[in-house]
Amino acid sequence: MSLHSLLKDKLSSEKLLLLPKGFEVIGDIAIISIPPPLEEDKYIIAQEFSTFRKDVKTILRKLHKIEGSARVADFEILIGNRTTTRHRENGCIFELDVTKTFYSGKMQYERDRIANNAKDGENVLVMFAGVGTFLIPIKKNKNVTITGLDNNLDACRFLQKNLELNHTMANIILADARQINSIFETTFDRIVMPAPYGQDIFLDIVRSILSPGGYVHFYTFKKDFEIPHFKHLLEEKGWNIDFFRDCGNVAPRVKRYVFDLKSK
Ligand SMILES: C[S@@+](CC[C@H](N)C(=O)[O-])C[C@H]1O[C@@H](n2cnc3c(N)ncnc32)[C@H](O)[C@@H]1O
Repeated sequence: MSLHSLLKDKLSSEKLLLLPKGFEVIGDIAIISIPPPLEEDKYIIAQEFSTFRKDVKTILRKLHKIEGSARVADFEILIGNRTTTRHRENGCIFELDVTKTFYSGKMQYERDRIANNAKDGENVLVMFAGVGTFLIPIKKNKNVTITGLDNNLDACRFLQKNLELNHTMANIILADARQINSIFETTFDRIVMPAPYGQDIFLDIVRSILSPGGYVHFYTFKKDFEIPHFKHLLEEKGWNIDFFRDCGNVAPRVKRYVFDLKSK
């Protein structure tokens, strides 16, 4: 059900038009982006939502866009008092504090796809690992050695907790990805790289830690018209594009793309 139909008897038609199209539910926490003109209606919106979704215990209002390297937004609590939850995805369980660590359900298909692509026996690195949403499904599905790296201490703590909750193990490294060439003495058969916005530079940085014939799953943000030039650039830099797809919009006209790359 949409927020619009939930609130059609509570708000004026002008205000109904200002309601966001969607909302996100992570575990038992709902996140709604209520715009400033609906400030005085925020508790009515939350109340109506909670009668519709009885499984939701906390309702948060997203105040600002996701910013900073930890990729977390600012929130106001409208209902409830807890910002930590347990969320199920791809047969795994993830505990996280939505105010301290990043999570987006939009990448669920991709995380499953990468877990299926990985091969037994590989040495895998997940950069920007967050709370383990790429790493844990890979480790649970395949017999791999796997390392997760993130520079957010809270993300690394939840990653450790989530490994335990999912009865599996991995190496966790709390570090800045820009240092990877001095951190690792080994090379990796597969590198998963959900790089932050505007950080294509990491594709050059990982070259020295990729095994011959190894794969990189590289996530980047582009406008459609930029793709032909970007593909040309990748080939010029010595990458074979095995597969690529559009993973959906992140902003008007800006999409997240994934490129599965093999070193030439
Ligand atoms: C968009 S989130 C992706 C999290 C996770 N892979 C997922 O898809 O749910 C980006 C992650 O990269 C981490 N990060 C950002 N810049 C970093 C850097 N320079 N070095 C290491 N980690 C970084 C953030 O802390 C955050 O957990």
